[in-house]
Amino acid sequence: MNGNMLIKNASQLITLSGFAAKKGKEMGELGVIHNGAVMIENGRISAVGKNQEVFKERDESILRQRGFCILDASDRAVLPGFVDSHTHFIFAGYRAEEFAMRLAGADYMEIMKRGGGILNTVAATRKATEEQLMSLGSKRLDSMLSHGVTTIEGKSGYGLDRDTEIKQLKIMTELNNTHPIDIVNTFLGAHAVPGEYSGNGDAFIAFLIEELMPEVADKNLAEFCDVFCEKKVFSTDQSARLLQCAKRMGLKLKLHADEMEHIGGGELAAELGAVSADHLLYASARAVREMAEAGVVATLLPLTAFSLRKPYARGRYMIDQGCALALATDFNPGSCFSESIPLLIALATINMSLTPEEAITALTINGAAALDRADIIGSIDAGKQADIILLENPSYHFLAYHIGVSVVEKVIKKGKLVFDKKQGGIIHC
Ligand code: NIG
Ligand code: FE
Repeated sequence: MNGNMLIKNASQLITLSGFAAKKGKEMGELGVIHNGAVMIENGRISAVGKNQEVFKERDESILRQRGFCILDASDRAVLPGFVDSHTHFIFAGYRAEEFAMRLAGADYMEIMKRGGGILNTVAATRKATEEQLMSLGSKRLDSMLSHGVTTIEGKSGYGLDRDTEIKQLKIMTELNNTHPIDIVNTFLGAHAVPGEYSGNGDAFIAFLIEELMPEVADKNLAEFCDVFCEKKVFSTDQSARLLQCAKRMGLKLKLHADEMEHIGGGELAAELGAVSADHLLYASARAVREMAEAGVVATLLPLTAFSLRKPYARGRYMIDQGCALALATDFNPGSCFSESIPLLIALATINMSLTPEEAITALTINGAAALDRADIIGSIDAGKQADIILLENPSYHFLAYHIGVSVVEKVIKKGKLVFDKKQGGIIHC
């Protein structure tokens, strides 16, 4: 396969056309073309439109001779690949017992305070070898790919010491080079205060700022810096100190904001010009207004709220206030052990009252915007990377309608077929 392809006869070609986040009402506009086609050359989209606008049938044999793969998308909806803009997928060990404890009534933050939670995964991840983490990561990426995900963000944050944080980031860089899914690295050294710094969050922040972050930035190991800005974890002051320094070192900013309580994470994201603020279960009306004005993407993670039995973030309200919303899984071993895009769409539409169109926008162009990549992925536009999915149904509505079941039939990454349900799943080239 050479990254040259013609997709033709799409019953719906959902372009999401655009090169920036869609805000408010714009989130309902999918840019649907009926009987659509996409021409792909060297992994990039070169033409998009109705069949007859993109190619002439008499030219098909020439395209074949030139090595083009011709894909007939009759009775299928065609969309940009999904962008999962918030995951913690490199970790060792599982926390199934903690999950059972939570089902029985234990509180997530209480478990964390007793040395479980994130610190439990930190202990296992520190012990794991690179090979073990690589193999776990690769399998998790395969599962994401089968759901139609073509780009993800991955965070460190299960090391909380120099060597393990760097190990996590390097593994993601390596997987980015070897696995079809593109991975955007985020440095989340400030995920929890490790045992060595217990009771001294300020000293840990100083260590991150003075020792670890300069190395991460110098070696180009991450594009974003994130912080768990939350009561009893890192205060808004500590978060601001860390993020301002990250910005000076050339990293872009993200925040875990107002997940368990409102402490002003959303407001801080707007003030610092973060690319996204994530979770936002308890974001204030002021935060929503300021994020909309500052162009901060509000990334909502309903699988986490569901798994923690917390109220969902006010997605409907945020869109109505003119925010750009992204949806992501938050895949991690604790608060949300799920990479399920179908369940995510079900929660967003059924429980949060997003329309199917808004949910799709949030998972494509706005997910790309949450990674500062809306200029290269997230829509089917000429010039963009050819990351495209075909559904097994003729209408995008099946994404929400077929509850909890993946309707993704084929995944094309940079113009190459990398997953095909009909050929038994992942295609290893
Ligand atoms: O996004 N809130 C902090 N981080 C993750 C949970 C990580 C974990 O429990 O291991 C989250 O919910
Ligand atoms: Fe998270």
